[in-house]
Amino acid sequence: MAVKVVVANATHVQYAPTICELIHISAQQRGTGIANRTPEYIAEKMKQGKAVIALNNNNAVGFAYIETWSHGMFVANSGLVVDHEYRNSGLARKIKKNIFELSRKLYPNAKIFSITTGLAVMKLNSELGYVPVTFSELTRDIEFWQGCEGCKNFDILQRNEYKMCLCTGLMFDPARKKDSKKNGFMIIPQKLPFRFLFVRPFVFIRRIFQRLYIKIKRNELHRKINKANKYKQ
Ligand SMILES: CC(C)(COP(=O)(O)OP(=O)(O)OC[C@H]1O[C@@H](n2cnc3c(N)ncnc32)[C@H](O)[C@@H]1OP(=O)(O)O)[C@@H](O)C(=O)NCCC(=O)NCCS
Repeated sequence: MAVKVVVANATHVQYAPTICELIHISAQQRGTGIANRTPEYIAEKMKQGKAVIALNNNNAVGFAYIETWSHGMFVANSGLVVDHEYRNSGLARKIKKNIFELSRKLYPNAKIFSITTGLAVMKLNSELGYVPVTFSELTRDIEFWQGCEGCKNFDILQRNEYKMCLCTGLMFDPARKKDSKKNGFMIIPQKLPFRFLFVRPFVFIRRIFQRLYIKIKRNELHRKINKANKYKQ
């Protein structure tokens, strides 16, 4: 497959309508997880160099873009889509890697996150060092959550006051990454007894619960991945 994955720019604006259609069709099929965007919005992301496009000759066959929230504190890699004909050949993995590297380059201190129900995205994100988090760890920027309005589960999110839904929150935190071991899931600081003396008890207890939640979600994620791998074999 001679597909090229590149950072998009103004010369790719012609592909914006095709990409919107890909996103629209996938959103309709899945019913969850992908915010519909206009061609103008996609074109703007390309002009800003905040998107990655997969091209096969003169056809756009995959895409993902960067959004920033809470004044650049958070970055989301959104709109990941691969044309049906090109699926299951590792193209999403390439796009994800490129958009992640681009995000790290443009926003080295930002927390990179996504919310998803999709196993493929969970797999790809965990390979890049994302860990499961509660929604409380994510941006509180209302505009981000408005992107969920087209999802069939939006009422669940609203009912839970935007604190939980069917999606799993996944986050790459560059600050934690420095403290952690190579394995993306090992985020418990090694100097726990020292920290225990200085961190306020409330914060400490909250962190214990957060880590417990992460552990449960991590096991759940591994179970799903193992199950999918077994199914594939
Ligand atoms: C999700 C999507 C981007 C995956 O694209 P892809 O090019 O087929 O993915 P890849 O070939 O790179 O596969 C990456 C991994 O995910 C797995 N995977 C891919 N599609 C999957 C699916 N539907 N269910 C479970 N796992 C899946 C692959 O097996 C692979 O894992 P492996 O290497 O361990 O076998 C594509 O199916 C798509 O565009 N879907 C519609 C849009 C969408 O859902 N976007 C995500 C929004 S959160």
